[in-house]
Amino acid sequence: MMLAVNFSPFPELETNRLLLRQPMLTDAQDFFILRSNTLVMQYVNRPIAKTVEDAENLINKIADIINTNEGINWCITLKDNPKKVMGNIGIWQLKKEDYRGEIGYMLHPDFWRKGIMQEAVEAVINFGFNQMQLHSLEAKINPSNSASAMLLEKNNFIKEAHFKEDCFWEGEFSDTVVYSLLKK
Ligand SMILES: CC(C)(COP(=O)(O)OP(=O)(O)OC[C@H]1O[C@@H](n2cnc3c(N)ncnc32)[C@H](O)[C@@H]1OP(=O)(O)O)[C@@H](O)C(=O)NCCC(=O)NCCS
Repeated sequence: MMLAVNFSPFPELETNRLLLRQPMLTDAQDFFILRSNTLVMQYVNRPIAKTVEDAENLINKIADIINTNEGINWCITLKDNPKKVMGNIGIWQLKKEDYRGEIGYMLHPDFWRKGIMQEAVEAVINFGFNQMQLHSLEAKINPSNSASAMLLEKNNFIKEAHFKEDCFWEGEFSDTVVYSLLKK
């Protein structure tokens, strides 16, 4: 037995204020604004977007991952302004044989500390456990990323491991802290 997932049709999620919807090529400008922001990218070991084309390539890559059911990613928008992408959130690196996936998220600083990611994370955890039928979710963060650590702890993730200098990015080694949450 192995986890079976199918992200077609794309599962939009709604919360109080938010619509989590499918990323589209027309979101490239907003993705660029997000992915080129040094505050957003500070603890994200991914290349900073230099052009809107970089953002388009990323959106195409996300679409491939969704179409092949290897992972899922949502644009975080307000229900009353669904065109504007404030951030994104996803479950990726699926380990189907273990019913496990990794949650990841980022939000533009213009929208920080309004409870937006809290709302999005709750919806995505619920989707992961109750729709996708995952057994566990993990999150990997840089130990200096206290905002992300606090968000995970608020959502009952448990710190399970701290790997020392396991990651080499842009000429430097950094630690990884692994959090996880089991389906209740
Ligand atoms: C981490 C991040 C997604 C938080 O988003 P946010 O919408 O501002 O978070 P919320 O307003 O929903 O806050 C929810 C909880 O997260 C924690 N939190 C968020 N920002 C925090 C901060 N600056 N310092 C400490 N805790 C913080 C708190 O526990 C907060 O609960 P509280 O308001 O009851 O204290 C956002 O800071 C971000 O996008 N950072 C850059 C990208 C990134 O690092 N992503 C994670 C990579 S692993």
